Amino acid sequence: MEESIRAAIAKRRTFAIISHPDAGKTTLTEKLLLYSGAIQTAGMVKGRKGRKAATSDWMAMEQERGISITSSAMQFTYKDIIVNVLDTPGHEDFSEDTYRTLTAADCAIMVIDASKGVEKQTRKLFEVCHLRKIPVLTFVNKMDMPGREPLDLMHEVENVLQIQSCALNWPIGSGKEFQGVVDRQACECIYFEKTSIGGAQQANMIRKPLSEAPASIREELELLDLAGNPFDHQQFLMGELTPVFFASALTNFGVEPFFDAFIHLAPSPHARLANRTDGTEIAIDPIRTPFSGYVFKLQANMDRRHRDNMAFIRVCSGRFERDLVVKHHRLGREIRLSRPHGMVAGERTTLDYAYPGDIIGVINPGLFAIGDTLSVTGGFQFKPLPQFQPEIFAKLYPKDVGKRKAFDKGIFQLTDEGAIQLLRHFEREGDHIFAAVGKLQFEVMQYRLKDEYGVETILTPLPYQCSAWILGDIDRFEKTSTCLVAQDRQNRPIALFTSQWDKQYCMKQNPNHQFVDILA
Ligand code: G4P
Repeated sequence: MEESIRAAIAKRRTFAIISHPDAGKTTLTEKLLLYSGAIQTAGMVKGRKGRKAATSDWMAMEQERGISITSSAMQFTYKDIIVNVLDTPGHEDFSEDTYRTLTAADCAIMVIDASKGVEKQTRKLFEVCHLRKIPVLTFVNKMDMPGREPLDLMHEVENVLQIQSCALNWPIGSGKEFQGVVDRQACECIYFEKTSIGGAQQANMIRKPLSEAPASIREELELLDLAGNPFDHQQFLMGELTPVFFASALTNFGVEPFFDAFIHLAPSPHARLANRTDGTEIAIDPIRTPFSGYVFKLQANMDRRHRDNMAFIRVCSGRFERDLVVKHHRLGREIRLSRPHGMVAGERTTLDYAYPGDIIGVINPGLFAIGDTLSVTGGFQFKPLPQFQPEIFAKLYPKDVGKRKAFDKGIFQLTDEGAIQLLRHFEREGDHIFAAVGKLQFEVMQYRLKDEYGVETILTPLPYQCSAWILGDIDRFEKTSTCLVAQDRQNRPIALFTSQWDKQYCMKQNPNHQFVDILA
């Protein structure tokens, strides 16, 4: 048994793609599916055009068959490696889910647009990787378009994200002149030639010795050898250094060599930290510890016909088998995990087995909450998931006061799922504030309250733009005139600010208090 688990782990790579909207995450995902043979033609990844209208179609989109990137995770085989891609919704659907999902990944691919560099959302997502020491590979996309200098982009990655970088390939030309890349480790040039297979754009690769690269490129490489960071796999695994690749996802230039490097460099599932019941720390060995995992995402009504709620579990150790009876740490009781689902290239299928790194979805009859640990042996709990400062706030009322009961029920479920945060005014009892990380969270909440609970709502945005949990004596906390102090569900004080400036000012006024953006 141990041997089969060891072999299954060695074959697995579980990762998420982090990027700012429009950098090319969907295109890259699609290419990975194409190269793996999971789909035959580009353009099959659903939800990309629809995403613009995603607000009201959000639930409906989950049911689209074919490949749906809105599903929580997909599994497929790329060159004998079993790849689990976790969905990290970008665009307007950016939310706490996106952050939490990252914790279930062993590795991340950061896609940046060569003309834009490191953008805001990438920075935020990177922060989570940094916090959890998740190794990150950098994919500089859109090299076929006029962009910034490669060195300039690498400096930006280093300065903004405070990580070392090392170019593992180097572009030969850029924009219209982008012809290929130099594989620095193999010391060879890979030139690309556009072709079309079955109507889909493809790229032929022609390998040539480095000596045939243009003189200017060879000079740049010499400079890089002298002044750049050497590649150190260990440093990459510790999240201290990011290998950088230049490519164009749309034209396929450099994509396959990137994926090949990715499966080679990315770690397979490894031990995860947990707390024993007595509070001491323990590393859960993925091979020797019988099945264990934790819930990182909940989603209601994925399939409207069944009105089912799903809990998504990241397998951390051992082999999962259908109908397994596990201990539910928080509830202190045993439960049977029947009808587990996996997403194999977009089709929801019933799973018989799952191994560390895999994601399983189980029906949730209200038993699971975000962060719950499930295990065969019991006695430990995986580290709590980080919580992120909300950045948008609103009041919400039912349009029809007669629907108060259904409204409260819906709100209870949605906050329980972690879809939205509910804050209470510190001084005014009964005054509720809804808080979220992304705008779509509110839109989805209103949509779901109407669709699932029959309650139409009125949303009044509040003028706060950022927040922080306050550690220290709250009675001694000096508010600015526009700051509001509330309590979260765990009764922790959280201050809301109308601007970053106001927050900074408040921090200066309260040197004895700690302002926390991420509760790790
Ligand atoms: P996202 O998921 O990160 O938001 O980005 P997505 O892949 O949807 O890509 C955003 C836009 O950038 C798309 O154009 C896509 O075709 C384009 N794109 C992605 N990779 C490259 C690349 O390597 N080179 C160039 N030139 N463009 C690229 P769109 O017009 O918004 O959508 P579509 O009509 O192509 O679907």
